[in-house]
Amino acid sequence: MVKAIQVGLGFWGFDWTKEVIPQVPTVEMVAYVDANPEAIARVQAELGVPQNKCFLSLEEAARSVEADLVIATLRTEAHYPVVKQALELDFNVIVEKPFASTIAQAKELVALAKARNRILMVSQNYRFQPAPIAAAEMIGAQKFGPINLVSIDFRRHAPSQGYRYWDMPDPLLADMSIHHFDLMRMVLNDNPKRVSCRTWNPAGSPFGHHPTGVATIEFEKGVIVSYRGSWMSNGPATPWAGEWTIDCSEGEIWWTSRDHFMGKAGPDRLQTRERDAQPKQVELAPVEYPDRRGTLAAVAKVIETGSVPARFSSGEDNLYSLALVQATILSAFRDGEWVEIAEVMERV
Ligand SMILES: NC(=O)c1ccc[n+]([C@@H]2O[C@H](COP(=O)([O-])OP(=O)(O)OC[C@H]3O[C@@H](n4cnc5c(N)ncnc54)[C@H](O)[C@@H]3O)[C@@H](O)[C@H]2O)c1
Repeated sequence: MVKAIQVGLGFWGFDWTKEVIPQVPTVEMVAYVDANPEAIARVQAELGVPQNKCFLSLEEAARSVEADLVIATLRTEAHYPVVKQALELDFNVIVEKPFASTIAQAKELVALAKARNRILMVSQNYRFQPAPIAAAEMIGAQKFGPINLVSIDFRRHAPSQGYRYWDMPDPLLADMSIHHFDLMRMVLNDNPKRVSCRTWNPAGSPFGHHPTGVATIEFEKGVIVSYRGSWMSNGPATPWAGEWTIDCSEGEIWWTSRDHFMGKAGPDRLQTRERDAQPKQVELAPVEYPDRRGTLAAVAKVIETGSVPARFSSGEDNLYSLALVQATILSAFRDGEWVEIAEVMERV
C-alpha cells in the first residue's frame, strides 16, 4: 500500500477525495490538507474523515504522518509552490494538470524530483481511456501506413453546461487543450516542432479571455495536426477528448473518448475505414483503472515496483505538453505567427 497525503480539497480536489481515491485499492490515505478550514470541514462532515488526519498545511501534515505520496489537486498557480515543498520533504508527487504555470517552473520541479530521486507524475487522466490507447497502438503498428493529416474538433457550450472558470486566462489553451495536446503526443508517439494558432472571444461570450481557437501543429516526424476547439460552440457537443480523424495513406482511424455530457457517460468509440470501404467499429479493450483512477494507480505502482510503464506521464514527459500550451498562447499573441517549440522550451 502506498500511503498518501492529498493537498487541495476544493471543487475538483473534493471529487478526487470522494470519487477517485477510494477506488484505488493500492492507495491508503493518511492525511488531507487544505489551507481553507471550510474545505477541511467538508471532508470531515461529508466523508467522516477524523480530525487527526486533517491539516491546514503540508508541512504540518508531514510532521504528523508517514507518507510516500502527495496528491496535489490545487489550482494551477498553487502547483509550483506545493509540489516544490512536497519534493523537498522527500515525497513522491502526482499533480493535476496543467503541471505548472511556466516551463521554467516545470523544469525546476523535474530537476528537483531527479535530485531527490522521487517520482513526479502529472495526472493526464485522458491517457487512461480505451480509445486513445487503441489509437496509439494502431498508429505504432502503422495499421494504415503513414499519416496524411490529423484533424481534431472539441466543441462545448460552456454557458449552458455548468462551467465555472469565466475569468481564467486562456480557458481553452491552458485548461482544456492541454488534454488534447497531451493526447496528440501520446497517440502519435512524437513531440511537437512548431505551432501556429489564433484565438478569440466570440460576440456575446461571458468569458473574460479567449475560449475559442484554431491551431496548426507540426510534429517532429512531419505529421501535421489541424486542431479546432471552442467552449462557445452551438454545434453538437463532442466528448471531452474531442473527435479525432487520423487520415493515413491506406485508410482512416476515427475515435472519440470521455463521452460525458449532462450527467450521462457513453463509451469510448473507435472505428477504422479502409479507402472506399464502410467504417468498422472496433471493440475496445477495457482499462482496469480508467481516467484519474488510472493515473493514481499508475503512480502507486511505479512507487511500489520502481518500474516505469510506457506512456507514463512523468513531469519530464509532460514538459512538451506544457510547451504546446505555451507555444500556442504565444503564437495567438503574435497573431498566428509560427512559434518553434524550442523557443518556449528555452525560455527562462
Ligand atoms: N483533469 C480534469 O479533467 C480536471 C477537471 C477540472 C479541474 N481540473 C484541475 O483541478 C485543479 C483544481 O481545481 P479546483 O476547481 O478544485 O480548484 P479550487 O479553487 O476549487 O480548489 C483549490 C483548493 O486548494 C486550496 N489551496 C490553495 N493553495 C493551497 C496550499 N498552498 N495548501 C493547501 N491548500 C491550498 C484552496 O483552499 C482550495 O480549497 C485545477 O488544476 C484544474 O485544472 C482537472
